[in-house]
Amino acid sequence: MSIPDLLRRHRLVPVVVLDDATAAEPLADALATGGLPVAEVTFRTPAAAESIARMAAHGGVTVGAGTVLTAEQVDIAVGAGARFVVSPGFSPAVVRRCREHGVTALPGAVTATEVMAALAEGVDTLKFFPAGTSGGAPAVAALSAPFGQVSFVPTGGIDATSAADYLALPAVLAVGGSWMVPRAAIRAGEFDRITDLVTASVEAVAH
Ligand code: 3PG
Repeated sequence: MSIPDLLRRHRLVPVVVLDDATAAEPLADALATGGLPVAEVTFRTPAAAESIARMAAHGGVTVGAGTVLTAEQVDIAVGAGARFVVSPGFSPAVVRRCREHGVTALPGAVTATEVMAALAEGVDTLKFFPAGTSGGAPAVAALSAPFGQVSFVPTGGIDATSAADYLALPAVLAVGGSWMVPRAAIRAGEFDRITDLVTASVEAVAH
């Protein structure tokens, strides 16, 4: 299944910050058990690459890399097993390196100019980030009018309640967020709590 199809199917992208790669397997278990076998592991900690490798080896979740800012990080992420690459903004260098590796790039865009720059690089699935402070669901709807071919994954400042506003839009494949995988809960090893949060979030966005 393609990554856009996978995102459309699950409707949620958990944005994960792992401080310790040993949490990767129990977190993968929690996501899979909660019914959300996908994760975006952010390059915000030194544990990111090993965490991606462990989650990819786990086999129960499709793993992507997040907060990818450079082409070198694309190499590291893909080498570790990332199947998709998410960036907060649009970088032609990151998108081109993703294409060379044959992995899906999900760059960020919140303006018409950024969307046009991404389209010029052949990318039509975009992260709308930071969603909450960039106009929210009405802004995504407005951008969708001229860019009917673009799919969005709004992320940033979304929770289980506001997710529904975005998911009601045909242009929205999925929403991303960290609310179901709180960094503090991962640090504390509270994986049963994370499983419950994931389960509740999956139920909240069920079609
Ligand atoms: C991201 O990198 O996508 C965001 O940090 C996630 O945003 P959130 O923590 O507000 O959900």
